[in-house]
Amino acid sequence: MKKWYAVIGDPIAQSMSPGLHGAWFDDNAIDATYIPLHIQAEKLEQAVESLKSLGCNGWNVTVPHKNAIIPFLDRLDPSAEQMGAVNTVHVLPDGILVGSNTDGLGFVQSLEEAYGEQCKGRKVLLIGAGGAARGIAFALEHMGYGPIVITNRTVEKAQQLAANLEGASAQSLAEAEETLADYGLIVQTTSVGMNFAQEGMPLNPKNIAADAVVADIIYNPLETEFLEQARNNGAKTLNGVGMFVHQGALAFQKWTGIRPATEKTIEKITAIVG
Ligand code: ATR
Repeated sequence: MKKWYAVIGDPIAQSMSPGLHGAWFDDNAIDATYIPLHIQAEKLEQAVESLKSLGCNGWNVTVPHKNAIIPFLDRLDPSAEQMGAVNTVHVLPDGILVGSNTDGLGFVQSLEEAYGEQCKGRKVLLIGAGGAARGIAFALEHMGYGPIVITNRTVEKAQQLAANLEGASAQSLAEAEETLADYGLIVQTTSVGMNFAQEGMPLNPKNIAADAVVADIIYNPLETEFLEQARNNGAKTLNGVGMFVHQGALAFQKWTGIRPATEKTIEKITAIVG
């Protein structure tokens, strides 16, 4: 039987995941389909039951269901357990639903694809303390990066996240701004700078060191104002296209056992967004 996969969210029309996975199925001569499904919060449980009974082989989960889907799954892998959020569901042959989270590791893989392991051992500043920051913080720690300092508009949230990590600490945005030159890797995870949502920058980047690597997980626009200023300071930069592609590649690998091409896909998506 032809396999089929999906992404569920609300809204969903903007999702680039169907194009991403569809191209990888074609590249690998896999006879499968990947469809976007608009599922409202109150229909989530019913949607999971339907996906299961209709034989869906796996699906991605996006806003606002990443946390809410957990009670409807049979099992979580350690990544989802630790982050309290699921972005990928894998259906085992006996119908068991396993939730995992590939966002954080997707970020680290995109960083390493672009810059190798040169950021290991550097002091890391993570800007933001929401769901995306949480996934990235755990993945960075797991992959041997750090020490990590977390800064956030609501500093209590940065403190809470730091308390869940080994050797991490928290700072206010004002403190982070002052000490910005000390960081070798800076990761911007807030929604500030996203197209049509919020213009501006989470903090003033003028003290970023010229030898720092600065990443922003936003990919629309391709270069946020924060990233542009970091580049003007001489820093090496990385936008969010790579994280998006790598989180998808990890999901694809769970479903098919095949590692899809990422570099070429990053180029294609950059051209589409740009
Ligand atoms: P996501 O899952 O994408 O991380 P989220 O959990 O809603 O989304 O987190 C959004 C992050 O962006 C938070 O760190 C938030 O800061 P607060 O915890 O103080 O709300 C940050 N953020 C959103 N708007 C911001 C703004 N105008 N200035 C600074 N930080 C902002």
